[in-house]
Amino acid sequence: MAPHLAALDFGMAHLRAAGVSLVLDLSGGFLPRVLHWGADLGALSRPALEDLRLARRPQPIGFSVDGPVPVAVLPEQSAGWLGTPGLVGNRGGADFSTAFRVREATLVADDDRPDTGGRVVVRADDDTARLGLELTVELCPAGLVRQRATVVNRGASRFALDALDLTLPVPTAAVELLDFTGHHLRERSPQRTPFTQGLRVRENRTGRTGYDAAYLLVAGTAGFANRAGEAWGVHTGWSGNHRTFAERTFHAVSLLGSGELLLSGEVLLEPDASYTSPWQYGSYGDGLDDLSARFHRHLRARPRHPSTPRPVVVNTWEAVYFDHDLARLRELADAAAAVGAERFVLDDGWFGSRRDDRRGLGDWYVSDEVWPDGLGPLTDHVTGLGMQFGIWVEPEMVNEDSDLARAHPDWIMAAEGRLPGRARSQQVLDLARPEVFAHILERLDELLSTYPISYLKWDHNRDLVEAGHRTTGRAGVHDQTLAAYRLLDELRRRHPGVEIESCSSGGGRVDLAILERTDRVWVSDCIDALERQQIQRWTNALIPLELMGTHVGSGVAHTTDRRHVIDFRAGTALFGHFGIEWDITRADPDDAARLGEWVALYKELRPLLHSGTAVHADHPDPAYRVHGVVARDASEAVYAIVATATSELYPPGPVSLPGLDPDATYRVRPQAPGDVPDGNASRWGVDLPWWTPQGVHLSGRVLADVGLQAPVLFPERLVLLRATRV
Ligand code: DGJ
Repeated sequence: MAPHLAALDFGMAHLRAAGVSLVLDLSGGFLPRVLHWGADLGALSRPALEDLRLARRPQPIGFSVDGPVPVAVLPEQSAGWLGTPGLVGNRGGADFSTAFRVREATLVADDDRPDTGGRVVVRADDDTARLGLELTVELCPAGLVRQRATVVNRGASRFALDALDLTLPVPTAAVELLDFTGHHLRERSPQRTPFTQGLRVRENRTGRTGYDAAYLLVAGTAGFANRAGEAWGVHTGWSGNHRTFAERTFHAVSLLGSGELLLSGEVLLEPDASYTSPWQYGSYGDGLDDLSARFHRHLRARPRHPSTPRPVVVNTWEAVYFDHDLARLRELADAAAAVGAERFVLDDGWFGSRRDDRRGLGDWYVSDEVWPDGLGPLTDHVTGLGMQFGIWVEPEMVNEDSDLARAHPDWIMAAEGRLPGRARSQQVLDLARPEVFAHILERLDELLSTYPISYLKWDHNRDLVEAGHRTTGRAGVHDQTLAAYRLLDELRRRHPGVEIESCSSGGGRVDLAILERTDRVWVSDCIDALERQQIQRWTNALIPLELMGTHVGSGVAHTTDRRHVIDFRAGTALFGHFGIEWDITRADPDDAARLGEWVALYKELRPLLHSGTAVHADHPDPAYRVHGVVARDASEAVYAIVATATSELYPPGPVSLPGLDPDATYRVRPQAPGDVPDGNASRWGVDLPWWTPQGVHLSGRVLADVGLQAPVLFPERLVLLRATRV
């Protein structure tokens, strides 16, 4: 992209990409204001943009600030905005409010391809507060907005920064909010609220992305749904403390905003020092599927997005837990290879005195006690079977009962004078200390250099509580987050072939910043397929299926004690990066054989699942869910019809299959092995007329708008459909 300034001559920028327009007003030397973020407006001439600016200018109101109050992406009181300010800080108590004036604005865009987005970079100064600002507002080719800001202290004294939040406006027609909460074993649980006047803030102070993070904060038109209504969503690309908010005022201003949540005194900018905010992402969609698809396309365009077929994983955790026994693990590896697994991951328990979760964490030396001959006999066996070998680590943490903590008790993060309470019997290492960073880097580097390891499951099992630097007494979550990024980056630089999974007691660290340096996330420690239907659906609202670790567990789920048949478990895990977390050496032979069929189907479908567009029908019956993946060229699709409960309807009504080419005809038929509609009707031999290998031939429009009679299913069962363009 070549830089050009033309469009900024008159203080306007119109960026367009993938059906989205972003119109920025940069006139008058003020920070950029978004005049429109939403559906593509088509090409607009200079007079049309200038008239748009005029048409969008707020009318001044009585008994308030004289003059219009347009709100910039970094809102300031000096511009008349009395809502949440973008920058909060002070210099010894003074300079508490900013008034930035733009010194330079650059538009970087491809003149020959005006519909591929572009980037506006603004440099601004506040000569009174002695601060400099660089703001980047970008419309990515996928139609995703992202922005971030860097503030520089240009004064001769220290500036204490308390907050740097950026915002994106949404129309007042956006009257409902969707965001997420959750806890261990139940991540990304949706919650909907009206978007009323005032401030709704989702704060996360856990020192990781968090189970209960907002994840996505979406504002939408009344009743917006998967495939209906307009929706605008923001995501904060940050793996530490952060805040995400929606603010609506009586001035007809509605904003979505976010930034890092800084602890008191955490960012003290010395002269010339700077702070850069996380990227804030904004996605507009014609329904939630469209909003999600922009994130997915953006992630898939990353240079290091996994490009090889996502291997079938066997993870040892729920198979053996801490019982590391070579003979048993060899047997598990044999069974894994026999069902078609391609990657074998040795979970927690291989190092130091780590025979349970109360000790040994931090001692990254292979345990002589359980691995007297090192890991070689297992890695040789696994690789000899043609599988990749992966291993679990939790580099940011330490048990107090460990050689590392005994040797360096001062390496543990703490508030002055007291250690934080333990969580999972562990504490947090102060990775921002160079000697701690160097030690952990050296240990991991040696591990990766010694064994043929092609995959790290990188865990992070506790919240950061009173996480301070003992050397300075200052809060350290910000530094810790950056240090963890640096550690991941450096390891990836040294071992570019190694893939990394972001795990945090399940899905506690899922965000776009950790995904800049990892290759998949562990969605949840809960692999109960019923819970997973919900957790995976909403994890997929932000990230594509190939980045989501989805495993088949044992018949009785370890975390809920629910029992599910193999087809429901495997048909749920199919929609993700498929794996197995179950002691299949003890599996019933019929189940093991069936698992092999699901593995084969996953291998056949993964090119489609991992490149296609995820779709979710808006099914009126809460007991049934329909979701699927449609190929980018709409030539084929796979759908799951899922009964999560018993239905009020008997038989259930028709299900719609969304996302196909409306004008093309498709052959739709049941897909084995998920083609058995377990339900009373089929048990009694009452067949669904179209449920045959030949299926039916219908247009994409009919399939989306009319649909097909769904089979009667027992609760907690699913069936698969395959659609092929004819
Ligand atoms: C929490 C993870 O989410 C689990 O999958 C497992 O790796 C354990 N930690 C191991 O301690």
